[in-house]
Amino acid sequence: MLQLGPYTLRNPYILAPMAGVSEMPFRVIAFRLGAALCPTELVSSQGLMRTNQRTLKYLRFNPEVERPYSLQIFGGDPEAMARAAGVGKEYGAQIIDINMGCPVKKVTKNGAGSGLLCDPPRAAEIVRQIRAATGLPVTCKIRSGWDAKSLNYLRMAGELFEAGCAALAIHPRTREQGYSGKADWRVIADLKRHFPDRPIIGNGDVKTPEDAHRMLEATGCDFVMIGRGALGNPWIFRELAGGDPPAPEERCAGVLEHFRAHVAFVGDELGAVRSFRKPMAWYAHGLRGAATFRAEVNTLDSAEAVEACARRFFESASVDLSGPAEEQDVDYRAALG
Ligand SMILES: Cc1cc2nc3c(=O)[nH]c(=O)nc-3n(C[C@H](O)[C@H](O)[C@H](O)COP(=O)(O)O)c2cc1C
Repeated sequence: MLQLGPYTLRNPYILAPMAGVSEMPFRVIAFRLGAALCPTELVSSQGLMRTNQRTLKYLRFNPEVERPYSLQIFGGDPEAMARAAGVGKEYGAQIIDINMGCPVKKVTKNGAGSGLLCDPPRAAEIVRQIRAATGLPVTCKIRSGWDAKSLNYLRMAGELFEAGCAALAIHPRTREQGYSGKADWRVIADLKRHFPDRPIIGNGDVKTPEDAHRMLEATGCDFVMIGRGALGNPWIFRELAGGDPPAPEERCAGVLEHFRAHVAFVGDELGAVRSFRKPMAWYAHGLRGAATFRAEVNTLDSAEAVEACARRFFESASVDLSGPAEEQDVDYRAALG
């Protein structure tokens, strides 16, 4: 089942919404390499509702490539969420995705993000009001529960589908777990077993194409959503379509293309150079000499210098097979600022 509301996706592989990562330049690259859907990072409903200029910047997208365009919003108040979704629709959103998983306190304390797991009727009311206000397909992204004592993903799913949710993404960790431990794929399988006719998007710890195939097989989910596994490796989507991993020249061209698009997107050279330090480190992950390269990039403060340094490194970079790769440096809280 590749159906998501009125849209038939071209394959089951979706880029996860990631704050500070899933901005337009990266989404476009992932789409071009084969991702079937790339939702935006979470966008504040309060900011949207007030058409705050800073918030509206998150809505920029490339309508030629980003089809369908899915906008993720967060908030706890159904009316405000419906108004925000209306603004999103005006700006081109074709799907509204609701964040019901963000663990960050400044989000949950307003009953938003994973705070909605504590109030399924309000979560369902948000879906209802957005549907009524916009007529757009609505998807939701949940965790398995607030904590180990309150695993309520089946109840959440029941209420959300009843309210008109078109597809449900599940990251099977609790809010309490944050990103620790392992995603419990049995939760995804359980959800699919209980809702066999509804599109279920499995998410969590898919790092390789093999992991993605295993998730589809082991859980019966309809779609696989890939987050950290795509950091520095958008080519994972091409591999999933049967293509090859990038050769060094191709990786180099891809990194430079992403960097230039990021600089143009941010519109402030120094800011963009700094905010690209993390993505640059992700692209270098697992390559010989990555630590030295990262240290050098972190001292540079012009786009020209970064490009020259990246070109020198990536054109000849080879995969480091000498030892276990260090863990990716990813911090959800930092990403949210
Ligand atoms: C840096 C970062 C930012 C994230 N931002 C969001 C977000 O804006 N919205 C959201 O629903 N989930 C967000 N997540 C969670 C991911 O979408 C995903 O659920 C999680 O990373 C687990 O999938 P993975 O193991 O494939 O990374 C974020 C995760 C990371 C690592």
